[in-house]
Amino acid sequence: MAFQQIKNWLYDHIILEIRDTKSLQQLMPLYGDYLPWSGASIRPSTLVYILNDIMINDRKVIVECGSGVSTLFIARYIQKMGRDISFYTIDHESHWLDIIHEELNKQDLTEFVQTIHAPLVHDSMCWNNEHKWYDMKVIGESFNETNIDLLIVDGPPANQKGQEFSRFPTVPYFNSWLKNNYKVILDDAGRPAENKISKEWEKQLGTTFEQDLLHGNVYVGCGGELFYNI
Ligand SMILES: C[S@@+](CC[C@H](N)C(=O)[O-])C[C@H]1O[C@@H](n2cnc3c(N)ncnc32)[C@H](O)[C@@H]1O
Repeated sequence: MAFQQIKNWLYDHIILEIRDTKSLQQLMPLYGDYLPWSGASIRPSTLVYILNDIMINDRKVIVECGSGVSTLFIARYIQKMGRDISFYTIDHESHWLDIIHEELNKQDLTEFVQTIHAPLVHDSMCWNNEHKWYDMKVIGESFNETNIDLLIVDGPPANQKGQEFSRFPTVPYFNSWLKNNYKVILDDAGRPAENKISKEWEKQLGTTFEQDLLHGNVYVGCGGELFYNI
């Protein structure tokens, strides 16, 4: 096994597992009811990284692609900390959003997040004019912010053959709405397609996307001067 493969294996199976356990403890103050953690959920290490970024860099407009456990934690953070933040989450699956809505409702969190149900459709902005992304018309109708300072990309699903590049249109679509000191977090940095996507985004944004193994193996790209790049 090459050195890089051994390193990746160690991160995935040992180091990140330990960091996730520690992160779950750090997330305790934000726990409400049982949450539907699964293989599709964001890693606890990434969630702690996101919440630290929201707090330290004083994020005001957050867009998340791919709802789930992450949505519930971010909404709970906004509620508990009494922060004035506009938080949008976009998902393509109506059934999944029903489950998230039910949880948000039970936990009195509905006022802290705006959910957007946008089915996946073909668009010329998609990779090689193939693949599908959220219906831009639907997003455009539900969203009128111009200063996104945190963009979290954990959807649409990209783990099946034929959908590997589904997350590519996120930056081309939201690019003109990003604030100067934005941060873009792309989950699942261990996959070849995400690597290619991050390279394309670098060209579009004129920034560098660093692979961050310790925060759950994500790509992170930032603009402007950040008070603290955790
Ligand atoms: C990578 S997941 C997004 C995960 C989300 N950010 C979270 O932290 O839970 C991408 C998509 O898979 C679907 N999904 C997420 N969790 C799921 C689950 N436990 N079961 C079925 N589908 C799920 C949703 O449609 C979601 O947009």
